[in-house]
Amino acid sequence: MALRFEVLGRFNRARAAQLTLPHFVCQTPLFMPVGTQGTIKGLTTNQLEEIGCQIILGNTYHLALRPSSELIDELGGLHKFMNWPRALLTDSGGFQMVSLLHLADITEKGVTFQSPVDGKPMLLTPEESIQIQNRIGADIIMALDDVVKTTITGPRVEEAMYRTLRWIDRCIAAHKRPEEQNLFGIVQGGLDPVLRDICVRGLVDRKLPGYAIGGLSGGEDKNSFWRVVAQCTAALPEDKPRYVMGVGYPLDIVVCSALGADMYDCVYPTRTARFGTALVPEGVLKLKHKAMADDTRPIDPACMCMVCKNYTRAYIHCLVTKDAMGSQLLSYHNLYYMMKLSRDLHSSIIQERFPEFVCEFLQKMFPKGD
Ligand code: GUN
Ligand code: ZN
Repeated sequence: MALRFEVLGRFNRARAAQLTLPHFVCQTPLFMPVGTQGTIKGLTTNQLEEIGCQIILGNTYHLALRPSSELIDELGGLHKFMNWPRALLTDSGGFQMVSLLHLADITEKGVTFQSPVDGKPMLLTPEESIQIQNRIGADIIMALDDVVKTTITGPRVEEAMYRTLRWIDRCIAAHKRPEEQNLFGIVQGGLDPVLRDICVRGLVDRKLPGYAIGGLSGGEDKNSFWRVVAQCTAALPEDKPRYVMGVGYPLDIVVCSALGADMYDCVYPTRTARFGTALVPEGVLKLKHKAMADDTRPIDPACMCMVCKNYTRAYIHCLVTKDAMGSQLLSYHNLYYMMKLSRDLHSSIIQERFPEFVCEFLQKMFPKGD
């Protein structure tokens, strides 16, 4: 195992912890921004450090295609390649293929897909996914899982869950660097509590360094989503990190943290920035709106970020969709917002004022109580 997880404080099921990874000592709860081609679009790694990012995500699928995991390995690993001294996490690739390429097909061997380079059929097996992730060298690597949308029901959900359990053993056997990289298992099972239970128990038996809750944030209603998270966090070990995959709305992070989750990732803050939307305590601020054209206030007058200290809404309105700088400034602010939310969750749990923090958060976001 290449991590240490120490719970520093609790409020009911919520926890604040210190997660020590090979490249960084992290404070949880934490949000991880998503980079695809070894970059968070529009931001330098120095800016990401300045914002307070602790772990960033790379995508095995994208990196394996370009520049290739062999080259990254040869050049000294992804940390060095992208000049990121802090922690990295790579996802296994299957989910990206299934969600990006509608032509992907899953069999017991692995995920078959058509190469976007030359259209030839390609196969990503659990062994290959781990081999690629071993070459990339992230602090946390993810098992290859069989993911189905939560809106699908019936035998396919059960098949995917059992296959995920069979694949975890192939991933564990293929993992060649357990002293340097932490392999996390992923709980699947759709919205079915019985399937989720079988999957959690199966993974916990494997004594992995951390666990993820997968297959969510795919269009299910909030109640079903929170129920699955609550069930999984209750069944996962107290002394290991719990990661809810693909979750990044501020409200969901607050709720999942109250339910005992520790880690999150999502493209939302940076993607929504590219569409001209800023995250603010009240919810969102649409910088494209014509009311912004002569608004001389910063995005969020209470925000201490570089963008809010230096630029007006009017200036960003003018740039948005016309110049890359517009989405860069918005991405900077949005990630700063997510990092501040993570820090506030951590410190409010430590300082025993988590309920007060949650109430304040909700009051700002839903002032009329709706
Ligand atoms: N990203 C968001 N959800 C998932 C999931 O269920 N599995 C994997 N591997 N990645 C994800
Ligand atoms: Zn700001």
